[in-house]
Formats: sequence, structure tokens, C-alpha cells
Amino acid sequence: MTRILFLGDVFARIGRRLAANRLPGLVGRESVDLALANSENAAGGLGLTLESARELFEAGLQGLTGGNHTFRHKEIEPLLDSDARLVRPANYPAPCPGRGWTILETPGGVKVGLGNLMGRVYLSSALECPFRTADRLLAEMKQAGAQITIIDFHAEATSEKNALAWHLDGRLGALVGTHTHVQTSDARLMPGGLAFITDVGMTGPRQSVIGMARDEVLWSFFSGRHRVYQPAKGDPVLEGALLDFDEQGRALSIKALRLEGFSS
Ligand SMILES: [Fe+2]
Ligand SMILES: [Fe+2]
Repeated sequence: MTRILFLGDVFARIGRRLAANRLPGLVGRESVDLALANSENAAGGLGLTLESARELFEAGLQGLTGGNHTFRHKEIEPLLDSDARLVRPANYPAPCPGRGWTILETPGGVKVGLGNLMGRVYLSSALECPFRTADRLLAEMKQAGAQITIIDFHAEATSEKNALAWHLDGRLGALVGTHTHVQTSDARLMPGGLAFITDVGMTGPRQSVIGMARDEVLWSFFSGRHRVYQPAKGDPVLEGALLDFDEQGRALSIKALRLEGFSS
């Protein structure tokens, strides 16, 4: 059996610290073979920098996915090209730095294909079709020898995420949703065997509006105007999912995970 941990969007320093402090214990306790996370909010809540990527890898994360904020800092582009542990949504139009999928290996030698896609509903109409791109991703990962396949679908609309789950059920190992930072309670094995959760949640500050300082976001809703938000502090919560696979790469179970009650 192979056990994979996937953490929801790691948000700012508070999220990176949470990962660094809690990941080793969690990996040991749960016998995790491979620890993955979405990294699009790791640097100050928006984007990924070289330093924040380094911290996440040092925390014990072996693969990182991205989303709509991944390209915010230009300095990350060379790392997206050079570091095979880092993926960004595959359906950005070409040319685009980085890769949309990768092959990672567990300490036991199991090859895990990790892909990344982004939804178009309420996000970007410039993206290629995530459904058609998913078929290509899956074929390429399998051709490259992936025994287990997992895709992070970074999307806003629950409908789009659920539709993609049905499209991939019976062919993909696991589809984990990210981007909303709010964990859904629908983790399950679908009829064809796909392990699916609409959104795994966030690793970051819960006394916030999806990670940002709540007073500032409230001001925006009342005023209709926008400013640069600051990451919130307080009430760190680590959210994600634990996924088990058998020797053939079939999903055995998916369990939503939440660790809370830490001082910030
Ligand atoms: Fe996010
Ligand atoms: Fe996002």
C-alpha cells in the first residue's frame, strides 16, 4: 500500500511554519510515503518565491502544485522550468514556463504521476479546456510509467470540479480540488474507483477570509474598492487529505484531514 498526503493551499509564513512544524510528526504517525501540497499562496499569501519553495521542500514536501497565483513572482519561472518536483496548471496556453505534470517516486520505489489543472469557471477564459487537457495529462503520465496518478484541480466552481471527477472516474487514481481554501465534506471513492474531494482546504490562518486579514477584506466588500491585503494571523489550521492506493495504483480510500488548535 502507498499512502499519499496532500495539503491544501499553504498560505503565507503561518502556513509554511505549520507545514515545517507539523509535517514530520504527521508523516511518521500516519506512515505517509509521499507528502504533497498546493503552493500557490506560500509567499505572503500570493504566489511562490524561491525562498518559500525552498522552505516547503525543507519541511518535507516532495511535490508542489500551483494555481492562479503561481506566476505572481517572476523569479519562480526558472525554478518551474528546472525543478521536476514543482508543477503548475497544465492548461495554461503555450508558451508557459514549467510543466503540468511530473513523476515522483516514493521511498519504496513507487512511481506517482502528479498533475495539475485549473478550472475556467470564474477564473480565466484564456485557459485551455481542462477536460481535454486532463485526458492528455493522464495519457502522458501513464506513458511515463506512473503507477499511481493524482491530479490537483485548482478551480472555483464545485460544478466544474465534480464534472471533471466524473470525466476521470475509472481512469485516474485521485482528483483533489484546491483554490477555495474551504474544505468540503464529500471525500469519497466514486463508482469507478476515483478518490475525490471537491476541495481539500487550506494550511494557514483560519481567523481570516480565505487566508487574508478579515477587516481588510470586509472593507473591500463594504466599499467596493480593493487594496493589497495582508495575510491574517491566528488560528493556524492544517487541512488536506490522506489517500491510500493498492499495488495496482487503485485508490483504496480518501480521508479529509484537519489539524487545529495550535498557537500561532
Ligand atoms: Fe489558493
Ligand atoms: Fe487559487
